[in-house]
Amino acid sequence: MQPNHATQADSQADSQADSQADSQADSAVVAAWLTDATDVTVLTGAGISTESGIPDFRGPQGLWTRDPAAQRLSSLPDYVAEPQLRRRAWQSRQQHPAWSAEPNAGHQALVTLERSGRLRGLLTQNIDGLHQRAGSAPTTVIELHGTIWEVECLGCGDRQPMTTALARVDDGEDDPACLRCGGILKSATVSFGQPLDPDVIRAAERAARECDLFLAVGTSLTVFPAAALPRVAVGNGARLVIVNAEPTSYDGIANAVLREPIGGVLPRLVAGLR
Ligand SMILES: NC(=O)c1ccc[n+]([C@@H]2O[C@H](COP(=O)([O-])OP(=O)(O)OC[C@H]3O[C@@H](n4cnc5c(N)ncnc54)[C@H](O)[C@@H]3O)[C@@H](O)[C@H]2O)c1
Ligand SMILES: [Zn+2]
Repeated sequence: MQPNHATQADSQADSQADSQADSQADSAVVAAWLTDATDVTVLTGAGISTESGIPDFRGPQGLWTRDPAAQRLSSLPDYVAEPQLRRRAWQSRQQHPAWSAEPNAGHQALVTLERSGRLRGLLTQNIDGLHQRAGSAPTTVIELHGTIWEVECLGCGDRQPMTTALARVDDGEDDPACLRCGGILKSATVSFGQPLDPDVIRAAERAARECDLFLAVGTSLTVFPAAALPRVAVGNGARLVIVNAEPTSYDGIANAVLREPIGGVLPRLVAGLR
C-alpha cells in the first residue's frame, strides 16, 4: 500500500474543495484499515481535548504559544525552588478548564473503537481524565503524564484527591503543604525534569510493539518518550495514521495523515465498526 498523505494533496492545493475531497478519501481508506485491524494502539495528545474547551500547549491558540512564560509552571526545578511560582500554579489549577470540561465526539469515537474489540491500548499524554469520563475502560487508558485529578507529595509520595487540596486553597492556603510530612504538593502530573513512571513507559511501549495499526491523535509528537512510540510501532510492522491539524515530524513515515478537526474525523473513522 502506498503512503497516503492528505498533506501532499494540500500542498498541491488547487482549491480547498479538492483538498477536502482528498482528505475524505483518505479517511475512507483509514476506516477500512481500522475495520481490518485486530490490535489498534492509540496515542492521544492535548489536541483531542481542545474541542472540549481545554487549550493545547503548542497549537495556534496554545497556552505556551500565547504565553511562553507559562512553561515554567511545568518545570519541576522551578516549582521546587520558587514558592511564588507554586502559588501561581495553585491559582492556575483552581481555574483549570478540566473541572467543567465534557468529553467530545473524539473521545466518544475511541470508546466505540474499544467496544468493537480492536483497541489494544489507549495511551494518552493528557492529564484531564476525559477518556475515562467518556467511558474508556480505566484498564485500557495509560496516562503517560499522570493526572490532574490527584495531588502528590514530592517528599513522601502521598496521594490525595485534587478536590481536597483545592478546597484548602479556597480556604486561604496559597501553597498547601502535605498533611503527612509537610512536603511540597503538586498535581500528580509529570513535569519537565521529572521522570515518567517506568512501569507506565513499559506498558506503553508494549502496546506500541503489539499493534497492527498505531493512531496518533492531536499530538505535536514533540514530547519524549511519548513521541518515540509511533516509531516503535512502525518498526514492528504496524501502519501509522496521524490525525493532527498541524504537520508533525513523523508525517513522512505515516501511511496516512489526516489534517482535520478530530471531533469530525474520528467518528467517521469508527462509524462502520461492529
Ligand atoms: N488536555 C490535557 O490534558 C492537556 C492540555 C494541554 C497540555 N497537556 C500536556 O502538554 C503536553 C503537550 O503535548 P501534546 O503533543 O499532547 O500537545 P501539543 O500542544 O504539543 O500539540 C497538540 C496538537 O494538536 C493539534 N490540534 C489541536 N486541536 C486540534 C483539533 N481539534 N483537531 C486536530 N488537531 C488539533 C495542534 O495542531 C497541535 O499540533 C502533553 O505532555 C500533555 O500532558 C495536556
Ligand atoms: Zn508528604
